[in-house]
Amino acid sequence: MSSAKKLQKIEVTAAKPYPVFLGAPLEELGEYLHSQFKDLGHILIITNPVVAELYAERLQKGLLDYRVNFLFVPAGETEKSLERLSQLTTAALRCGSDRHTLVIALGGGVIGDLAGFFASAFMRGIPLIQVPTTLLAQVDSSIGGKVAVNHPAGKNILGAFYPPRAVWTDFTTLDSLPWGEVENGLAESIKHSLIADSGLFEFFETQAESIKQRDASIWREMVTRSVSVKVRIVSQDEREQGERALLNLGHSFGHALETKMNYRGVTHGQGVSIGLVAAAHLANAKGLMTEAEVDGIKRLLNIFGLPISISGQDPQGLLQLMKADKKNQGGRKILILPQGIGQTIISKECTDPEILDAWNQVVEGN
Ligand code: NAD
Ligand code: GLY
Repeated sequence: MSSAKKLQKIEVTAAKPYPVFLGAPLEELGEYLHSQFKDLGHILIITNPVVAELYAERLQKGLLDYRVNFLFVPAGETEKSLERLSQLTTAALRCGSDRHTLVIALGGGVIGDLAGFFASAFMRGIPLIQVPTTLLAQVDSSIGGKVAVNHPAGKNILGAFYPPRAVWTDFTTLDSLPWGEVENGLAESIKHSLIADSGLFEFFETQAESIKQRDASIWREMVTRSVSVKVRIVSQDEREQGERALLNLGHSFGHALETKMNYRGVTHGQGVSIGLVAAAHLANAKGLMTEAEVDGIKRLLNIFGLPISISGQDPQGLLQLMKADKKNQGGRKILILPQGIGQTIISKECTDPEILDAWNQVVEGN
């Protein structure tokens, strides 16, 4: 009997349901695979050298009964490319991968997206297990089945919905995560609280110090509650026909900023953070949020060292960049706005002057 039975899990109840195991030791994944896959002979672990150095040995301990090959991908967003996908395919064939091979994506969101897309396409689809090792990957990217590579025309242009067979989340992998990477995950997790869980927002407020000190039990609760929000939303709308778009809160603003700055000088988490503040200001202008609530969001982001404004940017230029947002319909900008804390709406009613005003609130020196 697999010890996975004793682990905490949250089920994604989408077209193909799958469990998200929480607090699942890397060493025990093998036992779970034994219980789930009868004719599994070969495993490909796709990971990067930093993560492998830290965690490959622990994962391998449970996989001694299988033929295992590692495929290493250097760190960095640029690795989410068709070139890398092609190289992975060559390497996978060289080590005898076939339809009965299973892919383990061991790493952050870059590895999850790339290895996931590889698994979706190799031999028309082979089983995938997500083993997320960054906070962002644990609370967000490993759940929901979005996999993709980038193209010169844009981020995640080539992708698929390809749900994993399971998500195997070992909280202890977060111990080694640099704070800059923690910030990226915190921004998404705070976003989850704003979208659908005011209690989680309060938890961030009351537990901020323990979170900053990396208290293990507090982190466990933070990740679990955040995962619950994501699971609930993707279970209801796996293919983003409606509600899943809410997960883009702050991202229309954030992406515009990241694009304007050529992805330099602003991390994704920082872009999301400023985007959340801009969205909150816009919501306030639309009567959806009080000034006190906007201040509360700013205060919280500040506590974690996340930025709430940016200098040296041209609000008009940023507004123009929002024209390219994938959510827009027929030239109309579609924005996700918070409605108080813990609720969110999709708005087609925001005018360019209103959006410009929101940018002015977060761009310093205007
Ligand atoms: P990442 O995967 O680049 O990882 C960040 C860095 O952390 C890497 O350098 C990696 O080597 C290092 N790292 C990973 N785990 C570590 C650990 N435990 N200890 C020490 N270092 C570790 O970044 P990310 O923020 O995890 O993911 C970003 C990617 O996720 C983007 O490509 C984004 O598009 C994607 N994403 C996808 C979805 C989705 O739904 N599929 C959602 C959000 C983001
Ligand atoms: N991160 C947005 C989504 O999964 O839909």
